Amino acid sequence: MAKKRILSGMRPTGKLHIGHYVGALENWINLQDDYDNFHLIADYHVLTTTLNTDDIYNNSIEMLIDWLSAGLDPQKNLMFRQSQIKDHAELHLILSMLITVNRLERNPTLKDQVRDLNIEHIIYGHLGYPVLQTADILLYKGDLVPVGEDQVPHVEISREIARKFNNQYGVVFPEPEPKLSKFARLPGLDGDAKMSKSLGNTIFLSDEPEIVKAKLKKAVTDPNKIRKGDSGNPDICLIFAYHKKFNPGEIEEINAGCRSGVLGCFDCKMNCASKISSLLAPIIDKRQYYENNLPLIKDILADGELKAKKIAAATMNEVHEKMNLG
Ligand code: TRP
Repeated sequence: MAKKRILSGMRPTGKLHIGHYVGALENWINLQDDYDNFHLIADYHVLTTTLNTDDIYNNSIEMLIDWLSAGLDPQKNLMFRQSQIKDHAELHLILSMLITVNRLERNPTLKDQVRDLNIEHIIYGHLGYPVLQTADILLYKGDLVPVGEDQVPHVEISREIARKFNNQYGVVFPEPEPKLSKFARLPGLDGDAKMSKSLGNTIFLSDEPEIVKAKLKKAVTDPNKIRKGDSGNPDICLIFAYHKKFNPGEIEEINAGCRSGVLGCFDCKMNCASKISSLLAPIIDKRQYYENNLPLIKDILADGELKAKKIAAATMNEVHEKMNLG
């Protein structure tokens, strides 16, 4: 039986952080043997948050290096830039006729972004963000979309649009389903619910151990635990949330130690930093290899774009045929 297809993507905002890893990338890597995998660099979507395109290419390359360094195998995954396959734009236009403005205004992700980024006036492209994302998924007939929790409302919109198209013109698209990782969200270093580059509260995949330590040192913990000996509440501590993910074996001990006061925040943080850095060490090594072999990165991208173009063209043929636009 043919393997099911995975399609996912990220906006190229530069180097990735451990929130990206935990929310999506780790999941992509774990799934890569069992599916046909498509991963796109959403370099149109990124224009919703910055109009400055000076760094768009470099950021895309940086992100691709992170994907590969973290363990995405180019033999098993097609990786490509959205902007290089023009069918995304055409399918986006067609799909934009199949959803109401009202439905898009109800998108909770839009509301979150408007709040987080202090956006005063919403651009049309921002409203249509999930429609473009739907085109990304449907163009490759993605069955599953492994993403972080914040993207689930988008995938719901994609399902509705796919259904609408299939009902209107005949069945072309599967209704994609989100596939969440166990840890869909990692809190930021400042205690914000979300680690996010725009909030400046991240640990990058490329952060050396000294940097990880320094960042954790400054991170906020339970404000009532001021010194070792004080009792703390791990449930409200972001360091404890990181331990859960990166140090599951010691969770009970840390929980008890924090509550009783035997464990001080400094030691707890340094332990956590070392666990995070053991995860990052091989990623940092591989990153160095790829940084020294940039032509290889460009080949991987060119190969992905060539193959993606063919698959996208075949889907568009079907779309044109069903819509009598042939
Ligand atoms: N919106 C996604 C994010 O910001 C990026 C994205 C673009 C995407 N196209 C996609 C994710 C298609 C999944 C499928 O993380």
